[in-house]
Amino acid sequence: MDRFDAYLHSLFQDDIPSTVLEAMQYSLFAGGKRVRPQLLLLALEGYGIDPKLGYPMAAAIEMIHTYSLIHDDLPAMDDDDLRRGKPTCHKQFSEASAILAGDGLLTKAFYTASLSKVDPSIQVELIQALSQYAGCDGMIYGQCLDIQEESDPDPTLEKLIEVDLYKTGKLIALPLAAAALIANHPEDRKIMNELGEAIGIQFQIQDDILDATSNEESMGKSLSDAENEKATVVSLLTLEKAKELEAAYTKSIHELLSKLHGDFGALKKLIAALETRTH
Ligand code: IPE
Ligand code: IPE
Ligand code: MG
Ligand code: MG
Ligand code: MG
Repeated sequence: MDRFDAYLHSLFQDDIPSTVLEAMQYSLFAGGKRVRPQLLLLALEGYGIDPKLGYPMAAAIEMIHTYSLIHDDLPAMDDDDLRRGKPTCHKQFSEASAILAGDGLLTKAFYTASLSKVDPSIQVELIQALSQYAGCDGMIYGQCLDIQEESDPDPTLEKLIEVDLYKTGKLIALPLAAAALIANHPEDRKIMNELGEAIGIQFQIQDDILDATSNEESMGKSLSDAENEKATVVSLLTLEKAKELEAAYTKSIHELLSKLHGDFGALKKLIAALETRTH
């Protein structure tokens, strides 16, 4: 991902130096796993397309993901101190700067997506998808449900999975759906979307399991679900049942992968690695 990271850096070279720019770059280059860009670039490779064609959209998605983490860590939300192995954005700078850094990354994401060198009609669809998957019908809706769930005394499993689908599944489905869009493969777009949603729900269940079983040093972030009395699949079902549920998603992920039209060896490898991730 070194080349992609060099591209990400290049997007900031003409910006006016400011505290908000510093805070944006601080969080974006703090050492995230870059799962969402990798999904997009490897899916493009599977279609036989030069991954560079996907750099702007992959960068835009990583900016939105990073903004979602900066805001997720704020005192009004999960109130966390550690992210990507470093003090959270509001701890390193200030709450005001962290709010603005999130706003800055969100806004810059749309400019960046517009740099995609694809057919103009596809370019418009990419920008629309960015808004839909990230916005009040996507990730933001999920974060809203997540906050509401805190005051629900009796959450159901269906409800928690709905939260996971929106808060995490949508931003993981987006890079895969975007790859099918760039490849101009409408038949695969729906399958890629479903695949991304399943991977996303599984990813969030794992995140909840790791929050309960790992430690802050190896995760590089605060593990605050218990302290925040978060309703998660782990608190609702027990750890063992949460692990069974997580494993159940593997089957549908593999079924969906087999329906795609391309040579997705590298993408499958990444997805298999995510299934056994430890951070
Ligand atoms: C963290 O996402 C937030 C969740 C959706 C669980 P990642 O685990 O992809 O975080 P980074 O990008 O590697 O920091
Ligand atoms: C985060 O869920 C989802 C988004 C940021 C949209 P979490 O609150 O569980 O993520 P972490 O554990 O802080 O990374
Ligand atoms: Mg949260
Ligand atoms: Mg959080
Ligand atoms: Mg978490």
